Amino acid sequence: MTDMTTIPAMATITEVHPLSGDTSFFRLGLKEGEAQGFTFTPGQFVQLSVPAAGEFPISLAGSPGHGRELELCVRKAGHVTAVLHNLRPGDPVAVRGPFGTGFPVERMRGNDVILLAGGLGIAPLRSLFHYFLEHREEYGAITLMYGAREPSAILFRDELAELACRRDIRLMLTVDFLTEEPAGGPVCRVGLLPGLLMGIKLRLDQTYAAVCGPPALYRCLITELLGLDFPENRIFLSLERRMKCGIGLCCHCAVGDFFCCTDGPVFSYDRIKEIPGVI
Ligand SMILES: Cc1cc2nc3c(=O)[nH]c(=O)nc-3n(C[C@H](O)[C@H](O)[C@H](O)COP(=O)(O)OP(=O)(O)OC[C@H]3O[C@@H](n4cnc5c(N)ncnc54)[C@H](O)[C@@H]3O)c2cc1C
Ligand code: FES
Repeated sequence: MTDMTTIPAMATITEVHPLSGDTSFFRLGLKEGEAQGFTFTPGQFVQLSVPAAGEFPISLAGSPGHGRELELCVRKAGHVTAVLHNLRPGDPVAVRGPFGTGFPVERMRGNDVILLAGGLGIAPLRSLFHYFLEHREEYGAITLMYGAREPSAILFRDELAELACRRDIRLMLTVDFLTEEPAGGPVCRVGLLPGLLMGIKLRLDQTYAAVCGPPALYRCLITELLGLDFPENRIFLSLERRMKCGIGLCCHCAVGDFFCCTDGPVFSYDRIKEIPGVI
């Protein structure tokens, strides 16, 4: 079996569909033989190579239980992601990874979990959410709180609308402001994501929080969680930094004494809270 962290494995795009105006869902099939036994922990990422364009880090957005099939949620941000958005099913790409630390799913077992996703932060948290759903009986109450800018920016709308019917999970969606709502979407409130935590009842010593979103969101969410007396070592954040090598060599992703690519991207809040400007 190839060491996929150093030698990229070939993959084929098997499905592409838009999730919002600038973000699309990509399903990749890793080539048989090269990626046997490929597995990952929700929260880990891969480096995706787009032929003749370059490589970029991207969170794994699907369940680890899907073997050689990888799901990604990619926003068109610049050159490489724009080239990827022009590719279609059947086109080849290459994948290195998985890299970094994921969310501590073993430690979370037996506890309640609350997932707080802002915008594109839903990508790694979708992987975690699907993991919990596939191991439903091993976890307590499962809550997903997801905030987007406006209704048309809610990613995975159809999937969320279906999940909203389940009685064994709690799904709470909010948008910063209302615009015309695309048909068939899930019901959402209007307001900022931290507002969803107000008045919520949590078993603090038996709950873990997983947070991912744009940098501006972290400070408000952490303030809100700490205001509820949420233990610092039960809050896990996925920190996104500019990355190059993905394996702790180039120092591009340094956060205090840590490298985001190898020590993170998932950190517990108590480990990083003293680092100036970390959130
Ligand atoms: C661990 C990790 C996980 C990620 N997961 C996802 C994901 O699931 N979905 C997704 O769409 N994107 C994700 N990203 C961001 C993604 O890697 C960048 O959008 C991508 O590298 C942009 O490449 P580009 O060549 O298209 O754009 P560039 O031309 O390199 O940059 C375009 C713009 O994007 C900004 N940018 C580039 N890299 C980053 C970054 N790491 N963080 C914030 N801004 C950046 C640049 O400052 C610039 O403004 C992740 C990044 C990291 C480090
Ligand atoms: S990306 Fe090179 S050290 Fe982290």
